[in-house]
Amino acid sequence: MGDTISKSFLAAVPLPLILIDQQERIEAINAPAVALFGSATEGRHYITVLRQPLMIDCIEKALKQRLEARTRFTRPDQESAESYRVYAAPVNSESGSGVLVSFEDVTDLQRAEQMRRDFVANVSHELKTPLTALLSFIETLKGAARDDEIARERFLGIMEREAERMNRLVADLLSLSRVETDERVRPTERVDLRNLIQSTATAIRPMAEDAGVEIAIMGDMDHDLTVPGDADQLVQVFTNLMENAIKYGGGGGVVTVALSRQDRAPGFKDGFVQVDVIDQGDGFDPVHIPRLTERFYRVDSHRSRELGGTGLGLAIAKHILNRHRGRFRIESAPGRGARFSVLLPLGS
Ligand SMILES: Nc1ncnc2c1ncn2[C@@H]1O[C@H](COP(=O)(O)OP(=O)(O)OP(=O)(O)O)[C@@H](O)[C@H]1O
Ligand SMILES: [Mg+2]
Repeated sequence: MGDTISKSFLAAVPLPLILIDQQERIEAINAPAVALFGSATEGRHYITVLRQPLMIDCIEKALKQRLEARTRFTRPDQESAESYRVYAAPVNSESGSGVLVSFEDVTDLQRAEQMRRDFVANVSHELKTPLTALLSFIETLKGAARDDEIARERFLGIMEREAERMNRLVADLLSLSRVETDERVRPTERVDLRNLIQSTATAIRPMAEDAGVEIAIMGDMDHDLTVPGDADQLVQVFTNLMENAIKYGGGGGVVTVALSRQDRAPGFKDGFVQVDVIDQGDGFDPVHIPRLTERFYRVDSHRSRELGGTGLGLAIAKHILNRHRGRFRIESAPGRGARFSVLLPLGS
């Protein structure tokens, strides 16, 4: 049989491919295309298999006019909306002239595009709010409040806060882009987590005291808890976790930071150090957990903004932990506080 050559060619290519003959029937289909369109399609009219109108137009053009044609195909049954670039080209096979249809998976590309668009929209939105406030206060100060000293003082105070918010946002964005850039570069220093946690807590205590929160450090302070790590970045991670615990979970009055050395866990070859940051605050519904490390994601966006948060802290922390081959574990329930655990491999 002549068509075994076409079939073996199709089988050698990892992209989904379908060969359609002059009678508009499917002459050959390779395994990746079977995965897309199902089995038992050979010999059937292509319209019964490739049902989308754009795809039918595209193949018809290639079959009838003997011209190359392109289109898009999205799998309608898929929740993740897989998307393909379709290319139909006239070919000559042993059985005569036909059309070879190939599918290039562009799902990841589209997803990345979408993420980039969302990110730009989010950044613009986050900057626009404080900018709008600043502009309107400048307007008021130039006009109505020009000679009103009390109003002037008050407005300048608000303007300062809004400008600081923009400053924090820009600093966080720069920090995010830096940690993304060196995410693949392994840290070379070694960091004693006991010292690092102690000094981070010391730096944050004034903020805790202002909020009426006590920071208690507990756990395994005798063992050596030194891990390969980038000290500045790890300080950034734990600062954000302690800050969050005070800002969002401070209602419970105490934030506990617990260190422990663990021998084994799924995903870790050797031992690791676990640092838990635990608060007794309001907690949140666990449905939020998978999305907490997304950029700009906030459980209660109004409250978070009031408290000056940019929603980038945990996203930055996640990138830093990836770089350290570490992991995040988040647990919470409404009314039961929250526990953010950082797992860092001890390394060799
Ligand atoms: N301990 C906690 N208790 C309750 N909610 C929390 C806690 N930690 C974080 N969250 C929620 O997770 C969101 C994301 O936290 P993240 O640190 O990424 O951003 P942020 O604190 O709002 O801003 P930034 O850290 O950039 O100043 C917060 O806005 C808050 O809604
Ligand atoms: Mg934060």
